[in-house]
Amino acid sequence: MTERSVLETPLSIGSMTLRGRLFKSATSETRSTAGGFVTDELLRFYEPIVEAGTPMIVTGNLFVSAQGKSAGHQAGIDADDKLPGLRDWVALTHGRDVKLIAQLNHGGRQIASPAPGVDRIVSASAVREPMLGTKPSPLRADEIPTVVESFAAAAARARQAGFHGVQIHAAHGYLLNQFLTPHTNRRTDRYGGSLDNRARLLLEVLRSVRSRLGEDYPILIKLNGTDDLPLRAGATTDELVRVAKWLQDEGADSIEISRGHYESWPGTIQGRYKGFFHASLTVGSGRDMSAGQKAFGRALGPVFEYVAGRLRPPVEGFNLPQAQRFTDALDIPIICVGGFHTRRAMETAIDSGKVDAVSAARAMIANPHLYRTVLQETSDAPDCAYCNSCIARHGGMPIDCYSDEIRYTRDLMIDRYRRESIAPPGIGNQ
Ligand SMILES: Cc1cc2nc3c(=O)[nH]c(=O)nc-3n(C[C@H](O)[C@H](O)[C@H](O)COP(=O)(O)O)c2cc1C
Ligand code: SF4
Repeated sequence: MTERSVLETPLSIGSMTLRGRLFKSATSETRSTAGGFVTDELLRFYEPIVEAGTPMIVTGNLFVSAQGKSAGHQAGIDADDKLPGLRDWVALTHGRDVKLIAQLNHGGRQIASPAPGVDRIVSASAVREPMLGTKPSPLRADEIPTVVESFAAAAARARQAGFHGVQIHAAHGYLLNQFLTPHTNRRTDRYGGSLDNRARLLLEVLRSVRSRLGEDYPILIKLNGTDDLPLRAGATTDELVRVAKWLQDEGADSIEISRGHYESWPGTIQGRYKGFFHASLTVGSGRDMSAGQKAFGRALGPVFEYVAGRLRPPVEGFNLPQAQRFTDALDIPIICVGGFHTRRAMETAIDSGKVDAVSAARAMIANPHLYRTVLQETSDAPDCAYCNSCIARHGGMPIDCYSDEIRYTRDLMIDRYRRESIAPPGIGNQ
C-alpha cells in the first residue's frame, strides 16, 4: 500500500460525506429499454464502479420529461413507473460507502429525434443545432412552469428511489445551458437578454428542486466553465462564475465544472477523433440523419476529425483553468472533470487548491476500478486511449469501451477483483 493520498480524504457536499475525492462523472448509458426503463445491462455497467468503492457516482443524464429525452435507450426519471428500476440501481450501493447521484436533464434542441408522442423540439430560441440538424421552436413563457415542475418532480422521484443526491445538468448545451448562452438564447422576454434573465430558468429549477427536497438533500449542478463557442456568443467564464454564485446563494451544494455545447465539438470531450464520423453515421446517433446530412458528414468528416484532434488533444485536467476561477469565487466544493486519469494529475489539482475534487468519465468507462487502481497503483489496470470510440457510438450502441484491447484487459481485471475479493482502499475485505 502506498502513502495516503488526498484522493482518499473525505469531502462534505451539503449533508453528505464522501469517503474520497475522485468521482465518476455522468456518462449517458443508452442501456435502458426504448422507453427509458432500467435494464440488467445498465446495472452491469455500474457494478464494477460500485465494487471499486468509487466515493460518488453520477448517473448518465436522466430525462425529466419525454420532451427532454435526448437519445435512444436513455434512462428516464419522468414518471413513477420508473421507480422500481431506479430502486434496483440504487440497491447496487447498499452496504457500501458509495453515493449514487441522479443527473437530471432536459435535452432542449440537442435531441436526435423526438420521443414518441412528442410533437416538437424546444429550446430558448429557434436556433438550429448544426451537429444534429434539429430546428427547435422557442418555449413559450406559459410552458416554462411545466419544465420547472418536471425537474422538481424528477428530483422528488430520485429521493423516493433512494438516490443520495441529484445533479441538475446545466452544462454541455442542453436546455438549461441553452437559456444561459446568448448564442442559443435570443429571447426578449424575462428569460432572455441580461445575465439575470438568462439564468432565470436555471435558478427557478434549483429553487423548485430545493423546495421539493428540503434543506438537507444534496443538490449538485453541472455547469460549463466556458461555452467554448468561438465566433459565436457563448456565455463567458466571468458570467458563469456569477451564475454559480447565485446558485450557491440559492442552496446548491457543489458545482462540477465542464465545458462546451454539441456545436462546440469537440469541446466537451477532448481527445482523438479519427474515424468518429464513420462510426457515428453508421452505428451512432448519426445513423438516423438524412441522406444529405450523411453525405456531408462523410465528405467533410475527415477534415473535422483532423482539426479536432489537433486543436483539442487529450490533455489531463483540460477544464482546470476555468474550474479554479470557481474555486476562488465560491465557498462550496468545486469538482473538475476533463481528461483525468493519473494519480499525480488528480492529486496536484486538489493539493494545489485549484479544486476540491476531480471526476472522470472516459477513464472510468475504460477502467471502472479507476478509484482503487490509482490509489493502489495496480499494474494490470487499463488506461483510456481517449480514442472517443465510445462517444462516437453514443445514441446507437450501449455505452462501453470500444477498444477491443482495452476492453479485454478491463474484463480480466474486473474478474480478478471479483475472484480474489479484494476490498477497495479504506474498506476491510467483505
Ligand atoms: C460516452 C459518454 C457519455 C456522456 N454522457 C454524459 C451525460 O449523460 N451527462 C454529462 O453531464 N456528461 C456526459 N458526458 C461527458 C462527461 O461527463 C465528461 O464531462 C467529459 O467526457 C469529459 O470528461 P473525461 O475527459 O473524463 O471523459 C459523456 C461522455 C461520454 C464519453
Ligand atoms: S472507447 Fe475506450 S479507450 Fe476509447 S475513449 Fe472510450 S473508454 Fe477510452
